[in-house]
Amino acid sequence: MNDPKKYRFETRQIHAGLDPKPENGSRGVGIFPTAAYRFRSCDHAAKLFELSEAGNIYTRLQNPTTSAYEERIAALYGAAGALALSSGMSAILVAVTSLARAGDNIVASPYLYGGTYNLFRLSLRNLGIECRIAPDERPESFAALIDGRTRALYAESMGNPTCAVPDLEGIAAVARRCDVPFVVDNTFGAAGYLCNPFDWGADIVVDSATKWINGHGTAMGGVIVDGGRYDWGNGKFPQIDGPSEGYHGLNLREAFGAAAFIAKCRVDGLRDFGCCPSPFDSYLMMIGLETLSLRVRQEVETARRLAEYCRSHPRVARVSYVGFEDHPSHLRAAKYYRFGASAVFTIELQGTLGSTVRFVEALRLAAHMTMIGDSVTVITHPASTTHKQLSEADLRAAGVTPTLLRISAGLEHADDLIDDFEQAFAAAE
Ligand SMILES: Cc1ncc(COP(=O)(O)O)c(C=O)c1O
Repeated sequence: MNDPKKYRFETRQIHAGLDPKPENGSRGVGIFPTAAYRFRSCDHAAKLFELSEAGNIYTRLQNPTTSAYEERIAALYGAAGALALSSGMSAILVAVTSLARAGDNIVASPYLYGGTYNLFRLSLRNLGIECRIAPDERPESFAALIDGRTRALYAESMGNPTCAVPDLEGIAAVARRCDVPFVVDNTFGAAGYLCNPFDWGADIVVDSATKWINGHGTAMGGVIVDGGRYDWGNGKFPQIDGPSEGYHGLNLREAFGAAAFIAKCRVDGLRDFGCCPSPFDSYLMMIGLETLSLRVRQEVETARRLAEYCRSHPRVARVSYVGFEDHPSHLRAAKYYRFGASAVFTIELQGTLGSTVRFVEALRLAAHMTMIGDSVTVITHPASTTHKQLSEADLRAAGVTPTLLRISAGLEHADDLIDDFEQAFAAAE
């Protein structure tokens, strides 16, 4: 697609990344199941390896199917560049370790996906990168933890599973004042369709493509997206603006300009950690993206119907849905998110752990799994799954009770889902 900025999201999600006039006439992207690429000559190979010429070397670094997918993601976000990886977690790992080195720290929001929390508090700590978790999401709380070795601020555009929406502009202002990049996990923002953090001051976005980007639960994936606006020349990032040890002193900022960060993630991160996607999975992501706006709009609408039904049901003690006015993040979600905000909500049932388990096990349509953004409606019992490792005190702090359930609405007819819930409530009694 030439000049994607001319087109709206719905058009970009189908055309961006495709050659408008392919030699073979193919309507879609080809799958290139190849590990390596033939060099034209030794001189050509040397130029590729010293990064003085762009081109394919080895699928751990680039692949034509994956490049098309990356181009589509960058176009959807209106960004300088994107990098596809094998999972959301690998996207977070590569993004953070491209910014922070041993002895550095990052400051993060307290409302993090459990996997991210473990990565930050345990694995990164073991690599010498300290993660300072702010006591709350107020921008001042982030500011209080920043020092001369802070290399990023980190938040989720909507926390999983609380759906807490942070003050993105306030945190971005702190990041600007302290001259550190602001990284936002935008998994709930659905590739920028519901929320585009670059519009609200983010510098870098990570996104678990396993969720709404893929949309059908058929592959794992993650992306890093570079807004291209952060100035890496402030002396804090010699790995980007300094002689690169891995490339004979090449300065990535000088060589790649606005796309310097995404180049760093690719040429060092993917090269060394090896968490590249398979070409077939990139193809699945491309297909998923073609219908993203339609799926997301429908799922958000179904979530609202189901949440309203649950709110009026006598066996439900509490419904927490960011689309409802009584949710603490309702106003922020209305500002930063479009089209009703979210396909995910939580309910707390009346009764006991036993009756909650009976309800979950009686459901016939909603799938009992740990997943969001699938075309199948998903029900998750955090206390026995995602939050199983937490202590009693941590469970209380996270608001996870024995009868709490997370629901991610899929694409089934809302009336069928309501009927399914109704028979499961009856069976649980
Ligand atoms: C907000 C968020 N970020 C990151 C991840 C990790 O992504 P993945 O499972 O693709 O590794 C998840 C997974 O659920 C998530 O919900």
